Amino acid sequence: MKNEVEKLLINYKTLEQFKRFKEYGNQELSMMEDLQNNIVENNSESPFYGIYVGHHLIARMSLYKVSAKYDAYFKPPQDYLELWKLEVLPDYRGRHYGKALVDFAKSFQLPIKTNPRINSHGFWEKMGFQKAKYEMERDLGENPLIWMPEGVEEKEQ
Ligand SMILES: CC(C)(COP(=O)(O)OP(=O)(O)OC[C@H]1O[C@@H](n2cnc3c(N)ncnc32)[C@H](O)[C@@H]1OP(=O)(O)O)[C@@H](O)C(=O)NCCC(=O)NCCS
Repeated sequence: MKNEVEKLLINYKTLEQFKRFKEYGNQELSMMEDLQNNIVENNSESPFYGIYVGHHLIARMSLYKVSAKYDAYFKPPQDYLELWKLEVLPDYRGRHYGKALVDFAKSFQLPIKTNPRINSHGFWEKMGFQKAKYEMERDLGENPLIWMPEGVEEKEQ
């Protein structure tokens, strides 16, 4: 099996595998409800990408493209990716699966914004992310990290 990053489809099997991740919450529950109520079809697309080892989903992240219209981070304002719920299951950490997901996100060549969890700063630094200059009205309780492809700059305050 090839351990590649794949786009995850919404179906009962994926949603069952999601339960093994610590950051399981409203997003997953609402996907389950939509599936049960036939609001989304079985195997429709989700914002999640993941890596399988054999048949086991061992790492995942959510990725969503934010339109330039709402960009408050980059110069010039442009479409960017919001990355969240990056998580590698404990037994598989330290084997570059986290890096593989982040590299995949970078491959779209759009700027990326994420809100790191406590204790993961060393990882994000290694991935080339930097702290966005704090703006209270925009960031409030968040401490966003950003990554920019060549030619993109952080917005001035
Ligand atoms: C944070 C997380 C996504 C990283 O995924 P991972 O697959 O374990 O990390 P990778 O193997 O891809 O790491 C890539 C590089 O970052 C380094 N790294 C990973 N986590 C790190 C950390 N917390 N601090 C410093 N460096 C870190 C690795 O050593 C590796 O370096 P290398 O390229 O020189 O070998 C994963 O550990 C996770 O899901 N953790 C959940 C809980 C959490 O956030 N913990 C924080 C760490 S305690």
